[in-house]
Amino acid sequence: MAALAISALAVVAACTLPTTEAKAPEPTVAAEPTAVPAPRAPAPAPAKDIYDVEIEPLTLAQCGQCHPTHFGQIRDEGGKHRFDCRECHEVFHAYNPRLNNWDELMPDCASCHTLPHGEKFPDCIGCHINPHTPVYIPFAQTRVADACADCHGGPATELAQYPSLHTDQACTLCHYDQHGYIPSCFECHQPHYQGQPLVTCAECHPVHMPLEMAFGDKTDTRTCQACHTTAYADWTKTPSKHGQVNCGVCHTAHPYIPTCQSCHGDPHSASLHERFPNCLTCHLNAHDLPVRRR
Ligand code: HEC
Ligand code: HEC
Ligand code: HEC
Ligand code: HEC
Ligand code: HEC
Ligand code: HEC
Ligand code: HEC
Ligand code: HEC
Ligand code: HEC
Ligand code: HEC
Ligand code: HEC
Ligand code: HEC
Repeated sequence: MAALAISALAVVAACTLPTTEAKAPEPTVAAEPTAVPAPRAPAPAPAKDIYDVEIEPLTLAQCGQCHPTHFGQIRDEGGKHRFDCRECHEVFHAYNPRLNNWDELMPDCASCHTLPHGEKFPDCIGCHINPHTPVYIPFAQTRVADACADCHGGPATELAQYPSLHTDQACTLCHYDQHGYIPSCFECHQPHYQGQPLVTCAECHPVHMPLEMAFGDKTDTRTCQACHTTAYADWTKTPSKHGQVNCGVCHTAHPYIPTCQSCHGDPHSASLHERFPNCLTCHLNAHDLPVRRR
C-alpha cells in the first residue's frame, strides 16, 4: 500500500514537472503535491477482486502467436478461407482425450458449404486435405487424379473428339504433382525455330486438340518456314502481290490448300478457263506468280 501511494505521488509529480519548471507555479498546481498527505493511515482497502477484469477475446494475432504454422498457412495459401479462425473454430481448446471429442470439435465443412461438386464427392477432407490451405490438393495424398474428367468435361471431350498424340497422354502427365498445375510446352518440346516465344504456341495449338489449328493474317510465318523452306523462300522473294498475303490467309488451316477461284473467281473468258482449267498452267507458282515487268 505504501509503495503504491509513493508511486502514485511520483506519477503526479512527473506529470506536473514540465509546467512547474517552465514558469512560476500557479497556486493551485503548486498546492497539489503538498496537498497529498504523508502516507495515509493503513486503512483497510476494500478487498480487490482479482477477477474483476474485462477479458478481451483473443485476437487473431494472438492465435497466431501460439499457432504460427496455421496462421502462416492461412495468410499465404488460405485463399477464400482467409478469415478469422473463430469463424470456423467456434469452440476450441476443448479437446479432451477422455471424451474422445476431437471430431465433433473440429469445424464441419457442411456448416458453411453444401455439395459443390455434387453427390459424387461428399468426402471434402479427402481432397481438401488441409482446410487452412483449401486449394492445395496434392495428387499423391488424394484421389483427385482419378476424377479429372468428372469435373472437367471440356478438356476430356476435346482430347477425345480431336485425336492427336496428346489424346494418348494421361491428364497427369502434363498436370502433375498438385491440382491446378499448368505446364510449359517447353518442358516437353522444342520451339519450331530458335527464340520462338512460348506465348505463340497456344495461338496455333489449342493444347487439348493441338492439331486443330486456325491460321490468319497474323500467323507467325517463320513457323511455316521451319518445315516448308521452299514455299517460304519463294514467297519471301516474290515480286507478286501474293508476297504480301500471309500464308495463313490462304492456308487457313493445316494442311488446307485453297483454290485460286475461292478468291479470284474466274477472271478470264469462259473459253480460256475451259481450255486451261488449271490456273497454274500460266501462273506457274502460287507463291511466286510471274508478274509483268514494268
Ligand atoms: C475455414 C475454416 C477454418 C479456419 C478459418 C481455421 N481453421 Fe483450423 N481447422 C479447421 C478444420 C476443418 C480443422 C480440422 C482438420 C482435420 O480434421 O484434419 C482444423 C484444425 C485446426 C487445428 C488442429 C489440427 C491441426 O492441424 O493441428 C488447429 C490447431 C487449428 N485448426 C488452428 C487454427 C487457427 C489458429 C486458425 C486461424 C489462424 C484456424 N485454425 C483457422 C478449419 C478452419
Ligand atoms: C497461449 C497459446 C495459445 C493461444 C493464444 C491459442 N492457442 Fe490454440 N492451442 C494451444 C495449444 C498448446 C494447443 C494444444 C496443442 C496443439 O494442438 O497445438 C492448442 C490447440 C488448439 C486447437 C486444437 C485442439 C482444441 O482443443 O481445439 C485449436 C482448434 C486451437 N488451438 C485454436 C486456437 C484459436 C482459434 C486461437 C485464437 C482464438 C488459439 N488457438 C489461441 C495454444 C494456444
Ligand atoms: C465458417 C464457414 C466455413 C467453413 C466451416 C468452411 N468453409 Fe470453405 N469457404 C467458406 C467461405 C465463406 C468461402 C468463400 C466463398 C465460397 O467460395 O463459397 C469458402 C471457400 C472454400 C474453398 C475455395 C477456396 C478458394 O480460395 O477458392 C474451398 C476449397 C473450401 N471452402 C473448402 C472447405 C472445406 C473442405 C471445409 C471443411 C474442411 C470448409 N471449406 C469449411 C466458408 C467456410
Ligand atoms: C475428388 C476431390 C474433391 C472432393 C472430394 C471435394 N473437392 Fe472441392 N474441389 C476440388 C478441386 C480439385 C477444386 C478446385 C480447386 C481450385 O480452385 O484449384 C475444388 C474446389 C472447391 C471449392 C471452390 C470452387 C467451387 O466449385 O465452389 C469449394 C467451395 C469446395 N471445393 C468445397 C468442397 C466441399 C465442401 C467438399 C465436400 C462436400 C469438397 N469440396 C469435396 C476437389 C474436391
Ligand atoms: C471435384 C472437382 C474437380 C476435380 C476432380 C478436378 N478438378 Fe480441376 N478444377 C476444379 C475447379 C472447381 C477448378 C477451378 C475453377 C475452374 O477453373 O474451372 C479447377 C481448375 C483446374 C485447372 C485450372 C487452373 C488454372 O489456374 O486455371 C486445371 C489445370 C485443372 N483444374 C486440372 C485438373 C486435373 C488435371 C484434374 C485431375 C488430375 C482435375 N483438375 C480434377 C475442380 C476439379
Ligand atoms: C499434353 C499436356 C496436357 C494434357 C495431356 C492435358 N492438359 Fe490440360 N492443359 C495443358 C496446358 C499446357 C494448359 C494451359 C493451356 C492454356 O493456357 O492455354 C492446360 C489447361 C487445362 C485446364 C484449364 C483451362 C481449360 O481449358 O479449362 C484444365 C481444366 C485442364 N487443362 C484439364 C485437363 C484434363 C482434365 C486433362 C485430361 C483429360 C488434361 N487437361 C490433359 C496441358 C495438358
Ligand atoms: C508433359 C509433356 C508435354 C507437354 C507439357 C506438352 N506436350 Fe505436346 N506432346 C507430348 C507428347 C508425349 C507428345 C507425343 C509426341 C512425342 O512423343 O513427342 C506430344 C505431341 C505434341 C504435338 C503433335 C501432336 C500430333 O498428334 O501430331 C503437338 C502439336 C504438341 N505436342 C504441342 C504441344 C504444345 C503447343 C504444348 C504446350 C501448350 C505441349 N505440346 C505441351 C507431351 C507434352
Ligand atoms: C504458326 C502456327 C504455329 C505455331 C505458332 C506453333 N506451331 Fe507447332 N506446329 C504447327 C504446325 C502447322 C505443325 C505441323 C502439324 C502437322 O504435322 O500436321 C506443328 C507441329 C508441332 C509439333 C509436332 C512435332 C513436330 O515438330 O512435327 C510440336 C511438338 C509443336 N508443333 C510444338 C509447338 C510449340 C512448342 C510451339 C511454341 C513454341 C509451337 N508449336 C508453335 C504450327 C505452329
Ligand atoms: C512442324 C513442321 C510443320 C510446320 C511448322 C508447318 N507444317 Fe505444313 N506440313 C507439314 C507436314 C509434315 C506436311 C505434310 C503432311 C500433312 O499433310 O499433314 C505439311 C503439309 C502442309 C500443306 C499441304 C501440302 C500438300 O502438298 O498437300 C500446306 C499447305 C502446309 N503444310 C502449310 C503450312 C503453313 C501455312 C504453315 C505455317 C502456318 C505450316 N504448314 C507449318 C509440316 C509442317
Ligand atoms: C495467295 C495464297 C497463298 C499464299 C499467300 C501462300 N500459299 Fe501456299 N499454296 C497456295 C496454293 C493455291 C497452293 C496450291 C498450289 C498447287 O496446286 O500446286 C499452295 C501450296 C502450298 C504448299 C504445298 C505445295 C508446295 O509448294 O510445297 C505448301 C507447303 C504451302 N503452300 C505453304 C505455304 C507457306 C509456308 C506460305 C507462306 C510462306 C504459303 N504457302 C503462302 C496458296 C498460297
Ligand atoms: C486467299 C485469297 C487468294 C487466293 C486463294 C489466291 N489469291 Fe491471287 N491474289 C490475292 C490477293 C489479295 C492479291 C492482291 C490483289 C491486289 O492487291 O489487287 C492477289 C493477286 C493475284 C494476281 C495478281 C498478281 C500481282 O502481283 O499483281 C494474280 C495473277 C493472282 N493473284 C493469281 C492467283 C492464282 C493463280 C491463284 C491460285 C494459285 C491465286 N491467285 C490464289 C488473293 C488470293
Ligand atoms: C492461259 C493462261 C492463263 C490461265 C490459264 C489463267 N490466267 Fe490469269 N492471267 C493470265 C495473264 C497473261 C494475265 C495478265 C498478266 C498481267 O497482266 O500481269 C493474267 C492475270 C490474272 C490476274 C490479275 C488480273 C488483274 O486485273 O491484274 C488474276 C487475278 C488471274 N489472272 C487469275 C487467274 C485465275 C484465278 C485463273 C484460273 C481460274 C487464271 N488466272 C488462269 C493468264 C492466264
